Amino acid sequence: MSNNVPIKDFLISHAGLDPVSFHMPGHKGSEIYKRFGFNDFLENIMDCDITEIAGADNLFQTEGIIGESQESYRKLYDSKKSYLLINGTSGGIIASILAAVPSGKKLIMARNCHKSVFNALALADVKPLYAYPEMIEEYGISGAIPPAEIEALLQSDPDAEAVILPSPNYYGVCSSIEAIAEIVHRHGKILIVDQAHGAHLKIFSKFGIGGLPKSAEESGADIIINSIHKTLASFTQSAILNLNTDCVSQYLIEDKLQSIESTSPSYLLMASLDINANMLLNHGTELMRDWADNLDYFYEEARKIKGLGYTKKIPGMDWTKINFSLGSLGISGDELETILAEKYRIFIEFHTGDLVMCMTGIGNKKSDIGKLLFALKEIAGERAGSVAAGLPAKAHDSGRMPEFKRSELFEIPREKTRVPLLEAEGMICASSIIPYPPGIPLVCPGEKLETDTLLYIKSLRDHGKKVIGVDAEGMVAAGAGADAGR
Ligand SMILES: Cc1ncc(COP(=O)(O)O)c(C=O)c1O
Repeated sequence: MSNNVPIKDFLISHAGLDPVSFHMPGHKGSEIYKRFGFNDFLENIMDCDITEIAGADNLFQTEGIIGESQESYRKLYDSKKSYLLINGTSGGIIASILAAVPSGKKLIMARNCHKSVFNALALADVKPLYAYPEMIEEYGISGAIPPAEIEALLQSDPDAEAVILPSPNYYGVCSSIEAIAEIVHRHGKILIVDQAHGAHLKIFSKFGIGGLPKSAEESGADIIINSIHKTLASFTQSAILNLNTDCVSQYLIEDKLQSIESTSPSYLLMASLDINANMLLNHGTELMRDWADNLDYFYEEARKIKGLGYTKKIPGMDWTKINFSLGSLGISGDELETILAEKYRIFIEFHTGDLVMCMTGIGNKKSDIGKLLFALKEIAGERAGSVAAGLPAKAHDSGRMPEFKRSELFEIPREKTRVPLLEAEGMICASSIIPYPPGIPLVCPGEKLETDTLLYIKSLRDHGKKVIGVDAEGMVAAGAGADAGR
């Protein structure tokens, strides 16, 4: 008999740590379901895992309970039509692109789009036109997509049928969707917003909490896809697509959704979306108020921690994401992640260079924020002491993610070879290289492999981080470019 149940064992052992979660998903554990009376679901979770029996409706032909739940979301987001998704925002993005861009045409897309957009290009036989994000120098992170970039690309190529960008982006920076929607619609095209990280934006404003950037639903976007699981209370992989236009027919969206989603949609995922909608409709004001108060508490107290840098509550920033750094005390993001996890059992979402990103969610309690503040205060205090005593700061830093540079696009190599990472310099990338998280291709097929990027990828791997597209032997798929001379 084998005692090996590796995935289950890991999960149970992690849960046993009583961890504080500042990563996805947004529910942060069972407490929020218990608080609002959904113990019956938690206690019967296996028995609720059913298929399309009589009365259970059908995700791809909604006429009953699933249709009712979709209607709850339509009300929450004031959309024309809302769809439950069980393959995440990833599935919604691919279906939207398949529906909005005919094969052989072009898609204007932010270069820092999620990998699902790049996957959709291949599936839809669509060519990209890249819009590049601004760089926020103060923090060294990708910022908004300038509306002027979209205008210029739309003017330059009549074959561009739609535009897609992430807003908020992975760090919480939002683009001006209102301005971009005006431009896109003036050109008669379709605007898709990947709001994977901003499912809560509309909900904050719906329940009267101001200050956060306007949601894409309120800014005139046509199709908006929200990862409810990332910041709100449904299970991982569940999401909502909001259709707010007549320019893409419901029939087409539904047809594409059914073509790419599982034919065995999980009732557990759908029920968790249903529970989330119910909690928001009944307790939205209280839930959003508590979340906003907890964030105020963080930002108020963070000011008092000497040496702590953090992204401020500025316009255009979704500050439910907390980006901070103790770099001024010589602490790298790697090191801070490790100390927070090992000493304080606080688990972050992501770091790059000395910047650490914590994702708050609907399920975070004030005590979670208190624990984070306590840890940061203590770590900063201790390190300030050792810096004052002249002790060298510890450095094990995988470096800062390189900027998305405007680069020439080459033919994707027909002959792909596996090449050791550092020997691929100057060659043309044949398969995307994607650090995970954040799941944004750092190098796309057709881009030249540059030294700084290769060194950053090597350093991520040296620090044990996942980089999709680099195999276990450290090889990447590349080939000679048209003018690469190799
Ligand atoms: C910007 C962005 N878009 C889309 C996605 C995909 O969302 P999902 O995990 O719901 O498929 C992610 C996932 O992390 C993301 O970061």
